[in-house]
Amino acid sequence: MGASSLVGFLMAAVAALLVAAATPAAAAPRAFFVFGDSLVDNGNNNYLMTTARADAPPYGIDFPTHMPTGRFSNGLNIPDIISEYLGSQPALPYLSPDLRGENLLVGANFASAGVGILNDTGIQFVNIIRIGQQLDNFENYQRNLAAFVGEDAARQVVQQSLVLITLGGNDFVNNYYLVPFSVRSRQFAIQDYVPYLISEYRKILTRLHDLGPRRVIVTGTGMIGCVPAELAMHSIDGECATDLTRAADLFNPQLERMLAELNSELGGHVFIAANTNKISFDFMFNPQDYGFVTAKVACCGQGPYNGIGLCTPASNVCANRDVYAYWDAFHPTERANRLIVAQIMHGSTDHISPMNLSTILAMDERRN
Ligand SMILES: *[C@@H]1O[C@H](CO)[C@@H](O)[C@H](O)[C@H]1NC(C)=O
Ligand SMILES: *[C@@H]1O[C@H](CO)[C@@H](O)[C@H](O)[C@H]1NC(C)=O
Repeated sequence: MGASSLVGFLMAAVAALLVAAATPAAAAPRAFFVFGDSLVDNGNNNYLMTTARADAPPYGIDFPTHMPTGRFSNGLNIPDIISEYLGSQPALPYLSPDLRGENLLVGANFASAGVGILNDTGIQFVNIIRIGQQLDNFENYQRNLAAFVGEDAARQVVQQSLVLITLGGNDFVNNYYLVPFSVRSRQFAIQDYVPYLISEYRKILTRLHDLGPRRVIVTGTGMIGCVPAELAMHSIDGECATDLTRAADLFNPQLERMLAELNSELGGHVFIAANTNKISFDFMFNPQDYGFVTAKVACCGQGPYNGIGLCTPASNVCANRDVYAYWDAFHPTERANRLIVAQIMHGSTDHISPMNLSTILAMDERRN
């Protein structure tokens, strides 16, 4: 770049900054709120006495800082990548001391690894933030936000926000099928347990709606029978675990039906169903088409499929995380997370319904 074109470039950049600064607050990225489990926790559990944590290396090995943050990923997780699409910084964990002042306007992440729809899911992790408490924390956040910007502005931030909630996987993996500790599997057959989960989830989502948000992405469970941990425990030949696969096949369609019912009761497209099972199916069964060498072996871990135990500083770690779909025994790599979010943004109604997120964002932009 020559000196004069550099000056021209700098002037254009300054002008762009001035325009951005002069644009009214309405054009700021919408706030983003996140609820749920380890697939979306970005560091709340760092502040808790629990074994469900990801705050030691090699977690974060590909994060911009190359440091662990509490995200269950080598790099970015699903909420981080949605924040990129929104043009925002990642929302801070609710428990972060930095979540105050201007940072409140970005949103907040209330998620906590290990939780489920039911209160007794994840009890083995002792001190985690159950979903009811996550919603209580959201109320408290709203009080802090109102103290900062005023009641009306706070209500508007929440109403115009985007929400992501990810629950359900742990109600199977860390509850119903938790060998040998499952009480639930003695109480319920799986075909009765799933409708119970759905009816409890409905109450949670109704309360979330009552707290103000009007756009809520709800993910189903991914392919919980095919994660490296399950392959290591239940599979001799690399086939997915049949009981967990059946559970996901029962849960996801019932969840979608419940969300459609809620939408028709509430009027409008409040709940957006992301079929993460279908989304991950393609790259699970055709990994090479997506540039993965494997969708069965975790990058970080030990034992068969690197699926036994936790990902720790003593584990095997693959050299190139971009060619693995799974980072640890349960959680996708950043690259797999990018494929998932791309489908949430631009996918067909098989993957995201009633419409994809790019359509929702464009609709809302026109309205505001
Ligand atoms: C879970 O705990 C919350 C808060 O204590 C309570 O309001 C809710 O009813 C409980 N849910 C179930 C299914 O017991
Ligand atoms: C995303 O949604 C828009 C609007 O409904 C639609 O035109 C587009 O085809 C969708 N993308 C896919 C891949 O279906």
